[in-house]
Parts: sequence; structure tokens; C-alpha cells
Amino acid sequence: MVIFFNASKVKEQPIGIFDSGVGGLTVAHAIKQILPYENLVYFGDTAHLPYGDKSAGAIESYSRKITEFLLEHNAKVVLIACNSASASAFHTLKKEFGSRTLLIDVIDPVVDYMGTRDFKKIGVIGTKRTISSGMYETKLKEKNPGTGVVSMATPLLVPMIEEGFIFDDISNAIIRAYLSDPSLAGIEALILGCTHYPIIKNQISKIFNFNVEIVDSARIVSLLLKETLEKHNLLNSPGKVRDQFFISDYTPYFEKIARMFFEGDINLKKADIWS
Ligand code: DGL
Repeated sequence: MVIFFNASKVKEQPIGIFDSGVGGLTVAHAIKQILPYENLVYFGDTAHLPYGDKSAGAIESYSRKITEFLLEHNAKVVLIACNSASASAFHTLKKEFGSRTLLIDVIDPVVDYMGTRDFKKIGVIGTKRTISSGMYETKLKEKNPGTGVVSMATPLLVPMIEEGFIFDDISNAIIRAYLSDPSLAGIEALILGCTHYPIIKNQISKIFNFNVEIVDSARIVSLLLKETLEKHNLLNSPGKVRDQFFISDYTPYFEKIARMFFEGDINLKKADIWS
């Protein structure tokens, strides 16, 4: 339980967000739509991406250090905008930092949302790390015992999106090759268990002839964040906003694709927290 002694000062403090790279900017974008007066401090661990191929232990230690960085930058809440890190590190971060800050992951809010729906069969796609953790499958089955859950690692989608293969023949062929797997036949909803995937949401929807609900965590998590800030009386008042975006390794290419994920202008600064 976190106690905020001077809530009026804390309100102005930023929302801390992190991801392995720039994928979490899809969540940052959704937050800006729903909470336009909140300041953001974002950290993308571009020196270590992709997290999807790393071990749980490695992701846990990266996530710990990044959380410290965000708290040093006065984050009033820390949002793990990465499914691979949510699957591997959320419980540890809660244990270690739960008395100092509010922590939100991207998996539990989606599972809670699915609990309000009545789907017979759900599909989940994500990185190798997220899928092999079994986190979605276990939590979805706990929440909806009668529901069938099929999960599938789709590791080519992250590099494909980062290389700009979107709405073209190559990406259509890759997405179709994954999603036409017979195990997914008859799903009523598909969870996008990776914060990169909202970029190809419509393309995925088209593969299913728009008959399957495509569940994207960005909006669901942003709404939960709003609710959490309201509950703790931490919503910032309207005024001038200052967002900060840090990455652990800088190339102009990251800057270019960051704009695509954030859907707006963005100024990335290098913060070399690893040396
Ligand atoms: N954005 C990360 C996620 O949600 C995936 C990218 C990566 O593998 O680093 O899991």
C-alpha cells in the first residue's frame, strides 16, 4: 500500500513508462489521448531489445534498474508497457517497489477485461518470452474457467514492424502464415500480447474478415491508469505538459520509428543507465 503524503505535489509528477524499445510508445500514445494533462517519462531499453528472446532473469534485472531510473525521475506511477517484462518481472517489481510506487502491468488489465466478456475461445499472440511464460493462459483460465485459450509465439512480427513492413504483401504473408494455423480456428477474440502489434491491428483484423475482436492492451491499460490516478487523487490539473523520452542506445532510426509508434513528434534522449 503506497501512501502519498503530499498528493497535490505528486499530481504534477510524471507517469513512468517502460518497454524494451519503442513498442511501448503505442501505450504512451493511448495515455496521451485519455490523459492529455499528464506528464510522461518514458524509458525504452533499446540497448537490450528484443526482450522477447531474453531469459526471465535478464528481463527482471533490466526492469529493476529501469524502475529505479523512473523513480529517480519522480514517476508517481510505473507502467510496464511491455508484455515480455510484465510476464517476467511484474511480481518481483511489486515486491521490491510496491511500497514506494504504484505499479501497473499490461497483462492483468487485459485479463480483467476478458473476464467481463463471454468468449468461448480466445487466441493470444506475443513474443517467445511472453508465450512461454504461460502468464496469459494461466490467468485467462483462472478468470474464465470455461473458455478455451490458444496461445502462439509470433516472433517475426516485431522485426517486421520495426523494418516498416506494414500493409504490404510481405507482412500480409507473414501474418497469414501465423494466424491461419488450425489451432486458432474458431477464436472469437485475439489478444495482441505485444505492445508492437497495435501497429498492425487492422491488418490482423482483415485476416479474420473483421469477425474476431482484436484486443489491444493500450486503451484498456490507459483507462485503468486513469481509474488508478482518480482513486488515489493523483490526476494532474490542466496546464503545460512536459514529456521526456529516454532510450538506452540511440540511433536516428529509433527516432524515425518512434514517430510511427507514438503517432506524433518525439524527441528521444540517450540515457546510458548500463555503464
Ligand atoms: N514490446 C515488447 C512486448 O510487448 C516486445 C518487443 C521485444 O521483444 O522487445 O513484449
